[in-house]
Amino acid sequence: MTKYSQFGDQFDSDSGTRQLMDDLGEVLNSGRAIMNLGGGNPGTIPRIRQLFHEQMQATLDDGRFDAIAGQYDGPQGHRPFLDALAGLLRRRFGWDVDASNIATTAGSQASFFILFNMFAGMTRQGHARHILFPLTPEYIGYADVGLQANSVRSVRPSIEIIDEHTFKYRIDFGALDITPDVAAVCVSRPTNPTGNVVTDDELGRLVALTREYNVPLIIDNAYGLPFPNIVFSEVSPVFDKHTILCMSLSKLGLPGLRTGIIVAAPEIIQTITSVNAITMLANGSLGASLVTELINSGQIESLCEKEIKPFYLEKALQARAWCSEYFTGINYYLHKTEGAIFLWAWFPDLPISDIELYERLKRRDVLVLAGRHFFPGLGQHWEHTEQCLRISYAQDPESVRRGIEIIGEELRRAFDK
Ligand SMILES: Cc1ncc(COP(=O)(O)O)c(C=O)c1O
Repeated sequence: MTKYSQFGDQFDSDSGTRQLMDDLGEVLNSGRAIMNLGGGNPGTIPRIRQLFHEQMQATLDDGRFDAIAGQYDGPQGHRPFLDALAGLLRRRFGWDVDASNIATTAGSQASFFILFNMFAGMTRQGHARHILFPLTPEYIGYADVGLQANSVRSVRPSIEIIDEHTFKYRIDFGALDITPDVAAVCVSRPTNPTGNVVTDDELGRLVALTREYNVPLIIDNAYGLPFPNIVFSEVSPVFDKHTILCMSLSKLGLPGLRTGIIVAAPEIIQTITSVNAITMLANGSLGASLVTELINSGQIESLCEKEIKPFYLEKALQARAWCSEYFTGINYYLHKTEGAIFLWAWFPDLPISDIELYERLKRRDVLVLAGRHFFPGLGQHWEHTEQCLRISYAQDPESVRRGIEIIGEELRRAFDK
């Protein structure tokens, strides 16, 4: 057996993120018609795709492609993009930011690897610190990025039942304890996997608490404003000196170009820039370059408002309607859909585990994600974690419809036994 370091061993064990990405690879390579309700791939929006083609053509025609592909960019990111984004954030939200507040990475997932390990783990004084998630379920990708054991902890939420088939998780502020070993607090907004959007009031309380305890508040804005703006409720984004806002070009339609964005205080950006230089030399700038003109012209905001948001809202409503049709007679709840690209289904009386349900669905060529992967750092038994599924509604409507129909059939089969 190969002898690894602790670092190697950590990556050698099973993780939900690896399973998710393997499943996505299987969809691409199997040659079978798999119904992909699993991964976080964005949907294909023809108008957006056409715009990226046009930008790519312009980049080739005016020589920018040669400049981008033929040399290393700076480790902080593509300067025209950093300036353009700072301009957008000033214009749109009035934030006091410039290029010194922004760095790019090889995707948000890489941002979290850097940030979690920058803050959590052993301090020079020998104190172990962790990242606190004030609300679970939370994004699967956070689960395994911390290099030290126990580098994440999460708080069980309260559940608000909204109607016969709808619920919403709320932050349980009574249980939220910012102890001295909390290195940073992190929340995705909108939340993957649930489609929850932490309310302005909840976020305001988190901002106040983290400011009081002097710990950074990391806000994962992969689906948020100003882009891709897959947010169906009325909420405001937040930024100040102690917040670290993570953004991405993935859900805009460019996941393969691996572009993550971090907006934070300049000293934090400087550390991230050093990590980029040491681990990557520089990141690829093609994604950043393709959207720079769209940001400068203001086009990106109208595209998100007129194309991206309605595209996902329609899909969300349609997927919920299919659940009502195909889950009839089953005791189920869906999380209130306020953003992102997923339905989060909870089956309180599920007679089999979420993993067994996932396996049975996979055998029928339906990919979903078992709910238990989305409770990183919970550290306590809660049967709820084994009663949920994440269902992506981003892909083609017929796959989503048929996939939900098969989920209904498998649930009924499990309940009937
Ligand atoms: C909440 C959230 N954060 C981060 C990511 C990672 O995105 P990226 O493609 O930028 O690494 C995802 C991807 O699904 C996500 O859903």
